[in-house]
Amino acid sequence: MQTGEASDARAGLVVALDGPASSGKSSVGAAAAAELGYRFCDTGLLYRAVTWLALHRDISADDASGLVGLVSEIDLLDDGRGRLSHVAVDGVDRTDDVRGPAVDVAVSAYSAVSELRLALLTRQRHLASAGRIVMAGRDIGTIVLPDADLKLFLDASVEERARRRILERGIDPASDAGAEIVAELKRRDALDSTRAIAPLKAADDAVIIRTDGNAIEDTIRQVVQAIRTAEPARAADGAGAADGAAPTTPAEPEPRRPRRPERAARAPRRPIEPTPIATRSTVLIRFGSMILRSIARAIVRFRVEGNLAALPKSGPMIMAANHASSADPVLIGAFLNQVLGRPLNWLGKREIVEFPLTGWAFRIAGIHPVDREAADLEAFRTAMRILEAGQTLAVFPEGTRSKDGALQQVREGVGMLALRSGAPVLPVAVVDSDILWPRGQLLPHYGKRVTVRYGAPFVVADELAAQGLPVRGRQATEAATRLIMARIAALLPPRQRGVYAGDVTVGGAAEGA
Ligand code: DC
Repeated sequence: MQTGEASDARAGLVVALDGPASSGKSSVGAAAAAELGYRFCDTGLLYRAVTWLALHRDISADDASGLVGLVSEIDLLDDGRGRLSHVAVDGVDRTDDVRGPAVDVAVSAYSAVSELRLALLTRQRHLASAGRIVMAGRDIGTIVLPDADLKLFLDASVEERARRRILERGIDPASDAGAEIVAELKRRDALDSTRAIAPLKAADDAVIIRTDGNAIEDTIRQVVQAIRTAEPARAADGAGAADGAAPTTPAEPEPRRPRRPERAARAPRRPIEPTPIATRSTVLIRFGSMILRSIARAIVRFRVEGNLAALPKSGPMIMAANHASSADPVLIGAFLNQVLGRPLNWLGKREIVEFPLTGWAFRIAGIHPVDREAADLEAFRTAMRILEAGQTLAVFPEGTRSKDGALQQVREGVGMLALRSGAPVLPVAVVDSDILWPRGQLLPHYGKRVTVRYGAPFVVADELAAQGLPVRGRQATEAATRLIMARIAALLPPRQRGVYAGDVTVGGAAEGA
């Protein structure tokens, strides 16, 4: 696993701190780290130093191997308090030079060179490997340390960031130089966030800290508080096992992403009433499903394939499907409710059940609200409760609808759930629903053909064991997730297999398609 370094046994967390130019990452990160006795690393200095050197040597952004060759000449310097906030080029401290305007203008173009990013990736991961570090950058939470214990994303409007920079540099905001700073920040934001490789963006599980109007001391306090709150959570997690190693205790660690102390960084939201677990097909569920089936049949040329008679009518089950359109939950739920004779339980954004008119209907439809601002742990616990109650949990492991109808990379929650609960997994493919109802369109097209294809339910741990693979620990979770996705991919046509196209033979799965 690429981020094994981030999970070694050690005291303290690996904290990813990302954000746009001039969002205050360096000053806030360094101050927070000092207060907590953490190391700090400003990865922007690496990109800046390469850029500075490249400008001096007249190496253009097209010369990838020339740029990679520069990496060995650059070192981050410890300020004696564990803060890597200075950079040396060939042994000479060049921190001030690399922060100059010439580098400001050129750095985004150089940072977009994939070979250079790869060369610096290893360096950054190595720096984080001893743990107890705050690492600041653009892609730390998404690419460099995707398994970081805590991910923070500092954000502020471009006007606010420009205002701070103008103040820092003692420039008249109304001057040409002031206007130039705003324009420059906008240009860099655009370049950093639209580049093809490792663009600037908040990781899905990052805590977003908006700093408009905040004094820097407030932001430092928020970051310190977020880290302090996450420390005991991580210790309780028992996340001492290195990647790839089977845990030494009988229990697997909790999923790794939930270590976010979201509550620490945001004002607490009103708790939301949980939806009772749907255990039987009430008259309302049967009636609602019938109406939805009729509507679906009126609009869609709809086919169901698979051995429906073999589906378990009782006991826990995880229905896992690809997600390519807003119609998917209906095309699966309204029909599967009828076949199983019992309802599905879904997880959904809390906002869905808070809609004033339709919220109650969504609850009746078995949607369990989870707070997207809270840890994934909440979703995981709700899902486990449903399975422990012997009911059917419906999940889209991709989380969001695919942009092009093809499977996207998933996180490992579904594999973890399958292993933890021991529930059989029912792989389901919704074929061509992206053509029926493309993303971004208000309504579905009329008369399109959609097939929902049901695979054979399987117990993940049994299949892994049969292949001689471990059934506990991180490797098992990864293998379980891949296996589930491979089974879904095998039911899809090649066009929709996406990132799992190469896995369809994993577990000998060529079912249908
Ligand atoms: O944080 P900064 O402004 O000093 O970063 C300088 C540039 O380096 C920024 O425009 C984008 C790039 N950078 C990056 O691409 N990835 C990082 N992890 C850090 C910085």
